[in-house]
Amino acid sequence: MNPCVAIKDGGLFTPLKLQNITLKNRVLRSATYEGLGDPSGCPRTELANVYRNLAQGGVGAIITGFVYTSQAGRAMHPSQCGIDDDKKTEEWKTIIEQVKNDFPDIRFFMQLAHTGRQTRSEVTGQPAVGVSSKKCTYFRQPVTVLSCNEIETIIREFGQAARRAKAAGFDGVQLHAAHGYLIHQFLSPWTNTRRDRWGHPHLFLEETIRAVKSSCGQNFPLLLKLSAADDNTPGIRLSDTIETIQRMESFHIDAVEISYGTMEYALNIIRGTCPVDLVLHANPLFNKTPRIFRNLWKIFREKSYTSRFIPFDKNYNMEAAAQIKKATSLPVIVVGGIRDKESMITALTTYGLDAISLCRPLICDPDWPQKIKAGLSLGSACTNCNVCTIQCDSPQPLQCHQNMKKELR
Ligand SMILES: Cc1cc2nc3c(=O)[nH]c(=O)nc-3n(C[C@H](O)[C@H](O)[C@H](O)COP(=O)(O)O)c2cc1C
Repeated sequence: MNPCVAIKDGGLFTPLKLQNITLKNRVLRSATYEGLGDPSGCPRTELANVYRNLAQGGVGAIITGFVYTSQAGRAMHPSQCGIDDDKKTEEWKTIIEQVKNDFPDIRFFMQLAHTGRQTRSEVTGQPAVGVSSKKCTYFRQPVTVLSCNEIETIIREFGQAARRAKAAGFDGVQLHAAHGYLIHQFLSPWTNTRRDRWGHPHLFLEETIRAVKSSCGQNFPLLLKLSAADDNTPGIRLSDTIETIQRMESFHIDAVEISYGTMEYALNIIRGTCPVDLVLHANPLFNKTPRIFRNLWKIFREKSYTSRFIPFDKNYNMEAAAQIKKATSLPVIVVGGIRDKESMITALTTYGLDAISLCRPLICDPDWPQKIKAGLSLGSACTNCNVCTIQCDSPQPLQCHQNMKKELR
C-alpha cells in the first residue's frame, strides 16, 4: 500500500522531492498560456501578478505558459512570451525575483516550446517548418521540411533558452513534448516519416535534453510534458509513450507530466465542447474568412467538426498516467480534468502518482489549492466552458469567462 494513505489529504500537501528539487506540495500549476507577452515576446510586468496570485493560492510549483525558443517556433497566440534572446532574460528575472521575494518557497519551471508546423507564417514571419511536409489540418499551412542543419540549430536554441531560464532564476525547465508541437512531431509516425537519422522518433528529444543538460549542468531540474496518446492514425499510443519514458530514464529527468493529444484535434487536449460562434469570431484561422464562407462552414462543416470532440470526463488522463507509473521509475505528474479533492487524493493513493497539476481550475480560481487545504472547498468552480481556450487566439490576456460574467452582473 502506498505510504501516503495514512497521511492527511493523501499527502497532497506534503513536500515532493523530485530528483534535484523539492516542491512544498504535490499540486502544480500546469503550463497555461497567459497572453501577457508584448509584441516582441517580452513578458509584461502584469505576469508577476498572475504568478503572485498562484503562489499565494497555494500551488507548490508554477509551470509557465509555453515560451518560444526561436521566432520560427512562435505559436499563433498573439501574446506569447519568448526566451529567444539574452535581452528577455532580464525581463523574466525581474518577474521571478519579485514573486520569489514574497513567496520564497514557490518553485518555477519555464516551459520551453517550438511549435513546428502548428503555427501561422503571418505570426512568425517565416514559413512554417516541420519534420516532414505533412500539413496540420487545423493550421492548414504549407510546411517546409527542416534540414539536418536546421534541426541542429533548433536543438542549440533549446539549450540557449534553458541557459537563459536558469540565469533568470527559474528552478528548472519543462520541455513541451506534448500537444503536437515540434518534439511531439518527431515522436509521432503521423509526422515523422523521415528517412535520415532524424527519422528515429526519440533522437530529437534525446539531443534536446543533452543540449539543455550541457548548457545548464546535469543537475538543473528538467521536466517533460508528454501526450500519453493522440487521435492520429498512425499516431502515438500509450505503449509508445511508455517506451519513450523508459528511454528517458537514463537522462536524469526529474519528472514526466502526462497530458493528451495534438492541435490537429485541439479540443481533445482539454475535452468537452466550445462555443463555435466564438471560434469563428476570435480565431484568426476563421475570422479572416469572408462572412459568407463562415456561414457556409457552419451549415456544412460544423457538425463534422464538433462530432470529433471527446466529451469532458473527469480525470481523463489518470488511467494512462497510472499505467505509465507502473512502467517507469521516474516521478509521474498527471494533468487533465481534475476537478475535486477526492480525485487528487485518488491520484496519489490509489494510482501511486507523485503529483497532480491543474490548468483551468486555477484560471477560474488561483486560490483553490489553499481552499482545499483549509477544508473550504471540495470541488472546482470551473464549468469547462472552454471560452478561456478560445480567447487564447485573441490578443487579450487570459481570463476566466465565468468570472467575467459574474463581474458584469
Ligand atoms: C487556456 C489554456 C492555455 C493552455 N496553455 C498551455 C500551454 O501553454 N502549455 C501546455 O503545455 N498546455 C497548455 N494548456 C493545456 C493545459 O496545461 C492542460 O494540459 C489541459 O488544460 C488539461 O488540464 P485542465 O483540465 O486542468 O485544464 C492550456 C490549456 C488552456 C485551457
